Amino acid sequence: MKLTALAAETLHSVIPELQLDKITQLLEKPKHAQHGDLSFPCFELAKMKRTAPPLLAADIATQLRNAMIEKTEAVGPYVNIFFRKDMIQQKVVYIILKEKENYGTIHLKNKETIVLDLSSPNIAKPFSMGHLRSTVIGNAIANILEKSGFETVRINYLGDWGTQFGKLIAAYLKWGKEEKIRRNPIPELLKLYVKFHEEAAVNTDLNEEGRRWFKQLEEGNEEAVSLWKWFREESLKEFNKIYALLGVTFDSYQGEAFYNDKMDQVVQMLEEQDLLKESDGAQVVELDDPSLPPCLIKKSDGATLYATRDLAAALYRKKVYQFSKALYVVGQEQSIHFQQVKEVLKKANFDWAAEMHHIPFGLLLKDGKKMSTRKGKVVLLEEVLKEAIQLAERNIESKNPDLPDKEEVARQVGVGAVIFHDLKNYRVNSVEFSLEDMLKFEGETGPYVQYTYARANSILKKGKWTGEVIDKGLGDNYSWELTKLLQEYPEVIANSNKAYDPSLVAKHIVDVCQAFNSWYGNVKFLQEDAEKGARLALVSATAIVIKESLRLLGIQAPQEM
Ligand code: ARG
Repeated sequence: MKLTALAAETLHSVIPELQLDKITQLLEKPKHAQHGDLSFPCFELAKMKRTAPPLLAADIATQLRNAMIEKTEAVGPYVNIFFRKDMIQQKVVYIILKEKENYGTIHLKNKETIVLDLSSPNIAKPFSMGHLRSTVIGNAIANILEKSGFETVRINYLGDWGTQFGKLIAAYLKWGKEEKIRRNPIPELLKLYVKFHEEAAVNTDLNEEGRRWFKQLEEGNEEAVSLWKWFREESLKEFNKIYALLGVTFDSYQGEAFYNDKMDQVVQMLEEQDLLKESDGAQVVELDDPSLPPCLIKKSDGATLYATRDLAAALYRKKVYQFSKALYVVGQEQSIHFQQVKEVLKKANFDWAAEMHHIPFGLLLKDGKKMSTRKGKVVLLEEVLKEAIQLAERNIESKNPDLPDKEEVARQVGVGAVIFHDLKNYRVNSVEFSLEDMLKFEGETGPYVQYTYARANSILKKGKWTGEVIDKGLGDNYSWELTKLLQEYPEVIANSNKAYDPSLVAKHIVDVCQAFNSWYGNVKFLQEDAEKGARLALVSATAIVIKESLRLLGIQAPQEM
């Protein structure tokens, strides 16, 4: 049920000289309801026909006929189209109630696989706000891709390798206490790391020691490896608490270390293709794009780099998953890195590199400044989420103290607020972090959307709606605005899928909630009259779409709140 398509086809039968696509493209959504649901400007066709646009508009308006069109009006050069509200409303609701949460879902027999590199925090360091964004945005994009008929693989590419582990091992052996780390792994490991750097500034031997330990680690020294494993395990336990709160899961945790034994092959492959050049003792690949610096593959001491690892990972993922696309949901500050990796693969004749896409996002800001996790000035994400949950709990306590299962609802609302706040703006824009704003029950917030969902459910409950199929639609303007938005939903999903942009879903669902709440303020749902069934059916359709949108964004929808 696509209103634009309906209007375009009807217009096309009257003006066959314009192509269907062209007509669809020209159709406008008028700003004011008195100008109809869709409006067709006649300028272009008038030029073709060498006639005056208003004359043409009047002519088309009288000829346009369709059972779904209530009336047409020529206003100046425009043909304004008004649909049969009741008929369309009944159809849209019928479809949604029949398809339920599958409304807007694309079912394909042969699914392409898309791999997503997301979250990817660094071991022994706090989970940063950037990693939160990557997790939340990546998860929503994956959900939307699945709804659009793709198979997805969510890969958490843990930052679990690098010279910092040599330093950490050295620091731990000097000052570390096992008990302390077990109790509070990430802050304690971070403390060790910070202390190492402070001491190394005055005692340069320390750096040498760190380097030695990293070398030991690379060579498989037992003590080094077991400490590294332990740090990794403890960190992962902490990260998993955050993932559990957020409700995000992964298909793979293969991080940087997984590629240790796959690096030589990359270097060898580049060598064989004669792509490696020497530069100050290091091995690099020079890139054709003059705006890109050469890609560093191997340092003069033989150590491989971040880019080398990403090359190994891309080759491995292509082989194992046969992906049609590989997405990297990573902050925009790494954009050059991903361009380099892609260019190197292209130079090495891997055509599929064209289907690797960096999906960048902007910063999370606090009072206009980057939220930093460095220098021990830590914003611990778990604490932020817990604070959000507490605030939500207080809110519920004051609004609905008798609510059953308050704690779980508070978790869903608190976490949902943080996620929604992140996703409601186009990802490349930076986001100002404010718990208070996120948790408002009004405006464009997660709790507002969840609250609207709960309100819809409560109406259905009070109205004792049983889900019967309705052969009647509504004709009022409030429910009509809502109907049109519900009708657009499959298109919103498709657009958001194409642009890897969850904010389109978030914005749409806010519009749906606003339309629903305006209707709510102007109607008596439970009045026993001939339209009660049709009203409740529309409420139910709205609830289905809200819940499904929240699910796509990675947010739960409490029945009551
Ligand atoms: N661990 C990296 C960081 O925190 C992000 C990894 C992104 N993914 C990748 N394939 N390079 O900066």
